[in-house]
Amino acid sequence: MRELLLCAPDYYGIEYEINPWMSRARGAKTELAKAQWQGLHKTLTSLEAKIELVPPQPKLPDMVFTANAGLTVGKKFIPSNFRHQERAGEAPYFVQWMKEHGYEILALPENLYFEGEGDALFGGDALFCGYKFRSDIQSHRAVADMLGCLVISVELVDPRFYHLDTCFCPLPDGSAFWFPNAFDEYGQRAIRAHVPELIDVDEDEAKHFSCNDVVLERDIVLPEGAPNLVKTLTTRGYICHELPMSEFIKAGGACKCLTMFLPQRERV
Ligand code: ARG
Repeated sequence: MRELLLCAPDYYGIEYEINPWMSRARGAKTELAKAQWQGLHKTLTSLEAKIELVPPQPKLPDMVFTANAGLTVGKKFIPSNFRHQERAGEAPYFVQWMKEHGYEILALPENLYFEGEGDALFGGDALFCGYKFRSDIQSHRAVADMLGCLVISVELVDPRFYHLDTCFCPLPDGSAFWFPNAFDEYGQRAIRAHVPELIDVDEDEAKHFSCNDVVLERDIVLPEGAPNLVKTLTTRGYICHELPMSEFIKAGGACKCLTMFLPQRERV
């Protein structure tokens, strides 16, 4: 059974603007956000994921996006060094929770920005890491040294897809789906070279955060608005669970951003 870390949206809101999706003028509807988050929680529970909850904190509206807490492999946890001051205050709360739950904390050098599972996803034997808008490329080498795994660094070039998990979604069989234009040419080549089979998502569906999915073996929990992708995945034997995520997309996140795997991989 997979374990996932979530954080309830008690203090969620659009209170600052640190990515192109966020506009304080377009606030999230509190009750609707809560209902959408409950829908995600319920769906994940019904798929037999074990949900852990980190207590939300006042004045940290983006703490709901636990994918950015850090990266967990086995009982090791590499906490994020957030690029934006607005989110940096979340880090100690995530670290404390992980410590209390028996994880060994492996800290990155403070001067290297790294935004956790949002920018670091295992696909096959490799850890794919995105950089530029949030994580630094130098953090990837440090993560590779800590974990002793192959890291493939890919540059993100479209500010709307500022975290790797907004444009790349690995599947358990080593294949993946992605929005290719979110990567530069080298990144596209690197991904094509390492992922045996790739499903392209078009821009229209990518804009609905359709790559931002929680994959639990054959079950895929994704935001609604990607009929073509759903059709393709269904044909391949996956069961898609489409959820309304409008209130979180206003902050630049959806299903995957709202979850972190405990751990993402048992070992490398
Ligand atoms: N507003 C948050 C931010 O800009 C959204 C984070 C989304 N998380 C993710 N893993 N893509 O940091």
